Amino acid sequence: MTRLILAIDQGTTSTRAIAFEPAPEGGLQPVAVSQIELEQHFPHSGWVEHDAAEIWTATLQTCREVVKKAGGISRFAAVGITNQRETSVIWDAATGEPLHRAIVWQDRRTAEATGKLAAAGHEPDVQAATGLILDPYFSASKYRWLLDAVPGSHERAEKGEVKLGTIESWLIWKLTGGASHVTDATNASRTSLMDLRTMNWRPDLAELFGVPVQALPQIRGCADHLGDAEASLLGKALPIHGAAGDQQAALVGHGALKAGDAKITYGTGAFLVANVGAEPVPSTTRLLGTLGYSANGVTAYALEGSIFSAGSAIQWLRDGLKVISESRQSEAMAQGLKDNGGVYLVPGFTGLGAPWWEPDARGTIVGLTRDSGPAHMVRAALESLAFQTRDLLDALAKDGAPKLKVLKVDGGVTANAFAMQFVADICEVTVERPAFQEMTALGAAKLAALGVGLIDDLEDHPVEAPARWEPRMSTDERERLLKGWRGAVKAAIIAAQ
Ligand code: G3P
Repeated sequence: MTRLILAIDQGTTSTRAIAFEPAPEGGLQPVAVSQIELEQHFPHSGWVEHDAAEIWTATLQTCREVVKKAGGISRFAAVGITNQRETSVIWDAATGEPLHRAIVWQDRRTAEATGKLAAAGHEPDVQAATGLILDPYFSASKYRWLLDAVPGSHERAEKGEVKLGTIESWLIWKLTGGASHVTDATNASRTSLMDLRTMNWRPDLAELFGVPVQALPQIRGCADHLGDAEASLLGKALPIHGAAGDQQAALVGHGALKAGDAKITYGTGAFLVANVGAEPVPSTTRLLGTLGYSANGVTAYALEGSIFSAGSAIQWLRDGLKVISESRQSEAMAQGLKDNGGVYLVPGFTGLGAPWWEPDARGTIVGLTRDSGPAHMVRAALESLAFQTRDLLDALAKDGAPKLKVLKVDGGVTANAFAMQFVADICEVTVERPAFQEMTALGAAKLAALGVGLIDDLEDHPVEAPARWEPRMSTDERERLLKGWRGAVKAAIIAAQ
């Protein structure tokens, strides 16, 4: 029976393919997985690049492996794609080859360019149209940098000979043998070029950033037919029927479909996405207005808080500081202390994201005494996840978003029970972690399954009960800790100035 969905999850550090099938209880369940790590390139301080050709090769390889493991291509009905967002690719339409390495979302090389636009007073208009502030994080300034860097590409882009796109767009182009140059509206909402309400490119913004609209992909819905993967690649032609940026796909994966639902994914960074309903909500606290999803006539908007360092702080404890040899040791070490000893870590390794947006901030430790040891570093790093989450939830509340009943979490760090209890305590919210953790891939699979008619809705149908953490800290204790954290953030920002 052709009932399987091939979900491609192209993330910052790895490329994965997962096969899903409809579950007897409703919803989808995984049947096979394949993963390949992705090489990171750091050509200069603050620059991060990926090889788009490597991303394509790894995508094809993981897809082929999964198809084989799941019993052959004849069992598959459609492909769904989810991806690291904002990462920007330039390629030659005739050869299908990248013209430069992709510029990754974390890359800060265009900080001066976006700073100049902000200084010239453009931010309010950009934010009103797109929901986004002016920051090098988003694709538009990266596209412009790529066009400037590749000789002749401005003119060639205007003629349609050079294409631009985020990762899903690149992968769809390759899968369809150059037949489809498309993107989905969630990925497009991260470029600074899409009007959040109309879901169309804005010619005035394209002009402001110096990016020809002719080089951009067509914007489609998240469960639309986006093209057909060529038969020569996987063994039969397979419709690509869903795409969404990874954080939005995780929102769908969690079934956070109503206004007031929210999820946070703790990966390299951490991304809080809160569903605000059918109309965009403008942020006054420098959260991002973004699209939650737009599928089969239903559109949900979201407010997003992006934290640049979350899991990467734990990696730093392991690989930089070497105070742990495996991430999971951090839980016992943190729990071995009776309290944090007044030590706070602000993990601004690549600047601070929402709600501070301080690209020049750096990691800062405050409160050290002669008693402070490795365990304090570990505990401070874990606690910083909760403090940063609290800052985002406070910003969300100030923007008038509906109060959260439950915060849904996923990502590697959520295996750490100390950190999750601390999130519940500091954020005063019930924290819920689903038993199945691949929310991003599940979201992409759900969208594709909806698109081809294998499922009727995007609702969640969990088989196992989620893990839950309830807040249990006293108000005094929470306020004392938050005061310490706020002082540490102030120190990090002052040090950057
Ligand atoms: O905005 C960047 C985000 O989409 C990256 O997610 O999971 O690939 O680190 P991830």
